[in-house]
Amino acid sequence: MEKLTYTHDAAAAAVIASVYPDAPPMAYVHSFGCQQNVNDGEKIRGVLQDVGFGLTDTLEQADLILFNTCAVREHAEQRVFGNVGALKQLKEKNPKLVIGVCGCMAQQPHIVEKLRRSYPYVDLVFGVDGIDRLPAMLAERFRRGKRYLEEPRARNAVVEDLPIRRDSGFRAWLPIMYGCDNFCTYCIVPYVRGRERSREPADILAEFRGLVAAGYKEITLLGQNVNSYGKGLAAPIDFADLLNLLCAVPGDYQIRFMTSHPKDASRKLIDTIAAQAHLCKHIHLPVQSGSDRLLKQMNRRYTAAQYRELIDYARAKIPGVTFSSDIIVGFPGETEEDFQATLDLVESVGYMQLFTFIYSKREGTPAAKMDDPTPRAEKTARMERLLAVQEKYSHAAVAALVGQTVRVLVEAAGRTPGTVNGRLDNNLVVEFPADESLIGQWAQVKLTAARAAMLVGTLA
Ligand code: SAH
Ligand code: SF4
Ligand code: F3S
Repeated sequence: MEKLTYTHDAAAAAVIASVYPDAPPMAYVHSFGCQQNVNDGEKIRGVLQDVGFGLTDTLEQADLILFNTCAVREHAEQRVFGNVGALKQLKEKNPKLVIGVCGCMAQQPHIVEKLRRSYPYVDLVFGVDGIDRLPAMLAERFRRGKRYLEEPRARNAVVEDLPIRRDSGFRAWLPIMYGCDNFCTYCIVPYVRGRERSREPADILAEFRGLVAAGYKEITLLGQNVNSYGKGLAAPIDFADLLNLLCAVPGDYQIRFMTSHPKDASRKLIDTIAAQAHLCKHIHLPVQSGSDRLLKQMNRRYTAAQYRELIDYARAKIPGVTFSSDIIVGFPGETEEDFQATLDLVESVGYMQLFTFIYSKREGTPAAKMDDPTPRAEKTARMERLLAVQEKYSHAAVAALVGQTVRVLVEAAGRTPGTVNGRLDNNLVVEFPADESLIGQWAQVKLTAARAAMLVGTLA
């Protein structure tokens, strides 16, 4: 693996400046998909600013529109094509407008081909490894006066020191690794994000220190499988070691992380969560299915019993710990019996939040070749049954918290005027009357009532 360092591209900046002699060009950047992609979008904005762009949230004001895309499900891809399609008129009105598509979708040859053939007004296409080369690609697009579409390629590298323009001044994303080597049979991520690469602990620590010094209160460590952090690095270090290293930094912050793969979640990790006050007592531990037969078909490499043991161990070691999970409904060949095993597991674990997805066929993955005889209507019906089980548990669990006083990080204005939303350690949201100047601060809140999956409270 190669480690690269971003450097300012003065030649590209000069080309860009010559194309827009009157005023700095404005860029509109929108990211779809997971937090990793959102963090990439923040870096894209940082790089664009570094070569002279201003930023805008208004499509009509933009000289450059860039969609940073997600390929995880068909629906995600359709949304992007819908959004890109809607830009055709803007381009007709303003032929100088540059339209770009990047990220996970652009990492698939058939998507690049579709953009080339059916979306002639898309000028710029590059994959997940293009962020540091974006200034050079833009300069190339302007110099040649022609579309610049990059064929998907994988680069086994980690790029450090990318400029970044963060969306928030108090919550930050911090990637600790890139890519995925797990090849769950339904999943496109390993194909579009490439092989697993961990960042050097010193680079992570430096970024982390910078965030704490800048006053960030919540730092979320990112990776497709944070529990395999450290593989391939020169110095021996695992994810729990990394957490201990970061928690030694003094400051007033909390740490979250995602995603933990159950096959690599160690007792050492759980002991670390129990021991470190900076770590939120909430674990996102996607199980996908409760059926051992399907878990095997999915290549998840754990059984439902092993998963339950892990949950039991965490409950025994971490008082008040809560869990969330991802579930796929309607994986190819899922029988009523398989689905029942998922319902049983969800019911017995009791998740604070459940993120549920109907299986989406991804071209090029092993599951795409599996028989999938279950009708769509049956999958939808199963999804509804699952949601009913989840709601019954989560509503009761949320209601059981009423009466407690908790510390929350105030994140945003609430839906009711005069209120704000704060997030509890367990990821639940509480709405309470307070001034918006509290956003970005800690607050002690007494929980007074529950509204479905949300809490209501008052400042304590
Ligand atoms: N690395 C994370 C997941 C990243 S993708 C992990 O292993 O947990 C986020 C979620 O999308 C997955 O947990 C899975 O539930 C869902 N997902 C991935 N591929 C999917 C597909 N083809 N169809 C439906 N859901 C999918
Ligand atoms: Fe996809 Fe599995 Fe990797 Fe998660 S661990 S990104 S589900 S292949
Ligand atoms: Fe989507 Fe790519 Fe993330 S496929 S879920 S944006 S890694």
